Amino acid sequence: MKAIGIVGSPRIKNTYNMTKTVFKKTGFDYEIILLKDKDIKPCNDCRNCHTTFECKIKDDMQKICKKLENADIIVFASPTYFHNVSGLMKNFMDRCLPFYFSKKLKDKKAVLLASGGFKNMLKFDKNGKCLRHDQEKECAKRCLKSMGYFCECLDIKVIKSIYALHDDYKKHVYWSHSF
Ligand SMILES: Cc1cc2nc3c(=O)[nH]c(=O)nc-3n(C[C@H](O)[C@H](O)[C@H](O)COP(=O)(O)O)c2cc1C
Repeated sequence: MKAIGIVGSPRIKNTYNMTKTVFKKTGFDYEIILLKDKDIKPCNDCRNCHTTFECKIKDDMQKICKKLENADIIVFASPTYFHNVSGLMKNFMDRCLPFYFSKKLKDKKAVLLASGGFKNMLKFDKNGKCLRHDQEKECAKRCLKSMGYFCECLDIKVIKSIYALHDDYKKHVYWSHSF
């Protein structure tokens, strides 16, 4: 199985660690693409891709698109920003518009990952329950949903959605396989 991870964080931290952890568990042959290191200009809605299935903007997206087409499994991983995906991830998603028309990613499998939560705002009750957990969980779920809608538009089949909360990823990790 050939897998590719698209990581939409400006840092090499929670989202990246989460992606690596998931890949290590699978034993797949994988490559991680850090969007922060790529030259990906924003979609300018020129509409060329509606008929040609090609993007006119020449940057790192061409290489990334080829890798997506050749992968069996795609992992989309984003930090949660204001209940949504990060700007880096959204910018990447918009540039995938040619796939909406070409359907070249149809029936690929995807795993969605969202990290969230602010460690310095952690508060626990006397039983050790994290008081912000439910709120942060909702934020991360919305981030997952956003990537889920993106996959739906491209006919990509989401096989698992997972979130993890808090910077101290290993200590405070909460795994979800909810939808
Ligand atoms: C601009 C911004 C907005 C954020 N919004 C939320 C949010 O709505 N909910 C949340 O739980 N965490 C939020 N966070 C926290 C991050 O999602 C969290 O720290 C994440 O694990 C960071 O991932 P990274 O280590 O890969 O950068 C936000 C962080 C930033 C920088």
